[in-house]
Amino acid sequence: MRTVVIGGAGYIGSVVANLLLNEGHEVLVVDDCSTGHADAVPPSADFVQADIADAADFLAGRDIDAVLHFAAKSLVGESVQHPSLYWRTNVVGTRALLDAITANGIPRLVFSSSAATYGEPESVPITEDAPTRPGNPYGASKLAVDLMISGECGATDLAAVSLRYFNVAGASFGAGERHAVETHLIPNALGAVDGTRPPLTVFGEDWPTQDGTPVRDYVHVADLARAHVLALTAAEPGEHLICNLGNGSGYSVRDVLATVEQVTGRPVPYTVGPRRAGDPAQLVASAERAAERLGWRAERTLTEMVADAWAFHQSRAGVDTVD
Ligand code: UFG
Repeated sequence: MRTVVIGGAGYIGSVVANLLLNEGHEVLVVDDCSTGHADAVPPSADFVQADIADAADFLAGRDIDAVLHFAAKSLVGESVQHPSLYWRTNVVGTRALLDAITANGIPRLVFSSSAATYGEPESVPITEDAPTRPGNPYGASKLAVDLMISGECGATDLAAVSLRYFNVAGASFGAGERHAVETHLIPNALGAVDGTRPPLTVFGEDWPTQDGTPVRDYVHVADLARAHVLALTAAEPGEHLICNLGNGSGYSVRDVLATVEQVTGRPVPYTVGPRRAGDPAQLVASAERAAERLGWRAERTLTEMVADAWAFHQSRAGVDTVD
């Protein structure tokens, strides 16, 4: 297929762009490089540096089979501090993209949605029919886009799939997490191990979970990328399919730290701090719909995620500056 990967200079977008190329698809990457890195774009992809707000310009006159849309602001804390940034970039930006998709008659869309659309779940595992009550503007903006896409599919023949990511980790095709502001547990723990980041703060150990730390569903970025390729052909014209992407099993912060210590062979220096605002106690996906509709199940273990993230972290030593 002739694909456009919006946000293909970012962590997940660049891994998916690599996989698409590997599988014989044509790839045009579009990224404004506000958080992505031009050197993460695969060399065999075409690349246009542009903002999604200008989608009418960069999609005009091209013959395209599918758009995969990764471009978004994605920090929960920042979204609470600066909600307008999230509504403008994630929602208004995607509105421009959807209009350009419709104007150009592009038949397929795969969108990066998030577990953050559900908010604090009533029960786990979370199915796609669970109530959507996002607890922050980031999750609200992802839900708003999901609703816009549903409307578009109802009004046109667009075949769209929203993939609701749980906690993405690991590295693939030499691409991993390179966030200027790093908030995620695994890269922060790895940086604490070798001193490239400060000692980790564990955000609370008084949660209503087995060991008192929050539980998450971690999924390897290589598994996640494969789901995108399968999603390209999963929806019928006029259908908006929503699928969770997770392992279906949960690991606590302490489980993750134990895995980091096992993989690196070193202790993780940490202190225990207060809970982080907006964190739910447990987020674990039901992986059944993705299995049924995409023929996809996550295969890689938490140990593989941490080992690949560690190899990537070491490969960037002395190259990346950290906050
Ligand atoms: N954590 C720490 N210390 C840190 C970083 C994280 O204790 O320095 C804890 C968090 O409290 C949380 C767990 O580790 O319990 C995982 O935190 P991450 O920041 O790695 O991931 P989140 O679960 O907060 O966020 C992920 C995605 C978001 C998405 C969210 C859905 O990264 O984009 O899931 O709720 F919005």
